Amino acid sequence: MKTYSDLNTPERILLGPGPSMVSSRVLRAMAHPLLGHLDPKFIELMKEVQDLMRYTFQTTNEMTLPVSGTGSAGMESTVANLLEPGDSILIAVNGYFGERLVDMAGRYGATVYRLDKPWGEVATPEEVDAALKVHPVKVVAIVHAETSTGAMTPLEGMAEVAHKYGALLLVDCVTSLGGIPLKIDDWGIDIAYSGTQKCLSCPPGLSPVTVGPKAREAFHNRKTKVANWYLDLTMLEHYWGDDRTYHHTAPISMNFALRESLRLVQEEGLEARYQRHLENGKLLWDGLEELDLRLIVPVKHRLPTLTTVAIPEGVIDAEIRGRLLNDYNIEVAGGLGAFKGKAWRIGLMGHGSTIRNVDLVLAALREILGR
Ligand SMILES: Cc1ncc(COP(=O)(O)O)c(C=O)c1O
Repeated sequence: MKTYSDLNTPERILLGPGPSMVSSRVLRAMAHPLLGHLDPKFIELMKEVQDLMRYTFQTTNEMTLPVSGTGSAGMESTVANLLEPGDSILIAVNGYFGERLVDMAGRYGATVYRLDKPWGEVATPEEVDAALKVHPVKVVAIVHAETSTGAMTPLEGMAEVAHKYGALLLVDCVTSLGGIPLKIDDWGIDIAYSGTQKCLSCPPGLSPVTVGPKAREAFHNRKTKVANWYLDLTMLEHYWGDDRTYHHTAPISMNFALRESLRLVQEEGLEARYQRHLENGKLLWDGLEELDLRLIVPVKHRLPTLTTVAIPEGVIDAEIRGRLLNDYNIEVAGGLGAFKGKAWRIGLMGHGSTIRNVDLVLAALREILGR
């Protein structure tokens, strides 16, 4: 039988849409000896992870826990717990992840109404209001930071509109949590999910989820069981809540990593962290424009954590990204869906959002494009 060499991964500069760069502190935390998932030491650590998650989400929500799985698991847990056949949802779709929400909600038997915006643009509270007037629904879902386009949908005022029609506000904050302002309680967001591998700078594998009182009430008022056993948040609460009884075996090392990455968020402070992301984002935007590259999203709604660049006429997408990776060790991503072949996506998230990385990617692009 073939034998295999020791694992030997190159140290990439990860400037794509995630996973982002991870601090050596987080990697070291993952290498700690395993604990049992019901060990009192681990149970102590679970509480710390939850407290740090509440700090980062800016919430006091008791039901705040890391769902085992990537961002899509968090997405599916919120959709599966909120919706049952006969329910309805309005989804603002302005990119690939809005489409994923539509697909998931349909699979759980909900009637799905769409508020479509062109890729790169965002929905406004007025447009959500107009859509709800025609179709009042149980849930309104919005992707805060659309990773496929680099557009940020302002959330202020969204909850007021949803609540006016008796709907709950569900927010995807996979590419915003820990990178740009997000105030779960102040903004009245009822339920939200994120991922560890973006602005939290942790490997992929957990999905922070927070559930407010009205969404919890909706869980309790369901007529049918949640159609997904693994992601039933009320059952998961028996493990992450006061009982601490077994549901599934928590990914222990990933929780070590999440704890450390959230500790780094807390040490830096949220405001300073948002400011760092914004300043480095602006540096990148200025540098790209100096290279005569066009940024797709207007500055008003542009995400500092993920920038989309229009691929210039005559330039071969795969060739440039290949050279960035092979000659400069830098990963950036191509476009998804409607932006396939049309855009590059450059991420400056968490530990990767540094002046040095901005300089590196700009210098590499300058050389490769000969500008
Ligand atoms: C906005 C958004 N939502 C959901 C997801 C899904 O997360 P994952 O790929 O971790 O399952 C992603 C992943 O990039 C995302 O960017």
